[in-house]
Amino acid sequence: MPEALDRLSDHDVVGGDHFMDRAELESLIGDADALLTSLSDPLDAEMLARANRLKVIGQCAAGFNNIDLDAATARGIVVTTTPGVLHEATADLAFGLMLMVTRRLGEAERLVRAGTPWRYDHTFMLGAGLQGATLGIVGLGQIGEAMARRGAAFGMDVVYDARHDHDVSAIDAVNPHTAATRRVDLQELLAVSDVVSLHCPLTPRTAHLIDADALATMKDSAFLINTARGGCVDEAALAHALQTGQIAGAGLDVYEHEPTITPALLEMDNVVALPHIGSATRQTRGVMSALAARNILEVLAGRPAETPVN
Ligand code: GLV
Ligand code: GLV
Repeated sequence: MPEALDRLSDHDVVGGDHFMDRAELESLIGDADALLTSLSDPLDAEMLARANRLKVIGQCAAGFNNIDLDAATARGIVVTTTPGVLHEATADLAFGLMLMVTRRLGEAERLVRAGTPWRYDHTFMLGAGLQGATLGIVGLGQIGEAMARRGAAFGMDVVYDARHDHDVSAIDAVNPHTAATRRVDLQELLAVSDVVSLHCPLTPRTAHLIDADALATMKDSAFLINTARGGCVDEAALAHALQTGQIAGAGLDVYEHEPTITPALLEMDNVVALPHIGSATRQTRGVMSALAARNILEVLAGRPAETPVN
């Protein structure tokens, strides 16, 4: 347990030790000075209106779509998140999902475990190779860049969609044999990519960014990877696109109605489904909780937070 988390016990801090549902949060938020929160704690305007003395929300996650930032700001509540410490772990997971779905690793392992007879064969369990393929990164923040570097290391050409140009020198430096990383618009990214990987936050602009039209624009040989937020994808449209062969497969760590998953997705061998474990390494979760705790302690001590978002 990081020392900063221990020091939180000197204050009226709510949260952190277990998942809080709406009713529990409602009953506790009134008297709390600080909240240590996770990515699904419902901190909408109605909930925040119950906070009488809340000074700081220490969100232990990169995303904060569960928090009404305007309502918090209006009430003078500092909102903090944990950027800069979880992007490598999350990119590892996204890359793992890409390998799993393109090389059919989950399907292959299920076959072995089921005791299905198999032997080496020239055409057995063929997947899609990554060398020379195009990786389309939607949202080139810290996680997107870390995923792009991994793709370049595996010989993938990278294109990205973002609201502004980014410095891509760290991506281009990885591999002298890949094409220069290019910024393109979403339509072009969807049309040219062999793997589309989502790394954008969930905002009104990105809700259902990947809808039926977007899926129809993708190549029928292309794969979708989502380690960002389920709400960025129209999950029913995704199931339909997979069922009708509009795209080749999907690797998912997040879901639109998490933890519920559209049942059809789980019936398809070309879908890899993980239970939102993007940042779930012991090391990363340790530094995330320590940073969230430090943010809370700084604000309670009347100092600026380390990583505020408002
Ligand atoms: C996890 O999804 C996070 O936002 O940290
Ligand atoms: C995210 O989409 C960005 O503009 O970097």
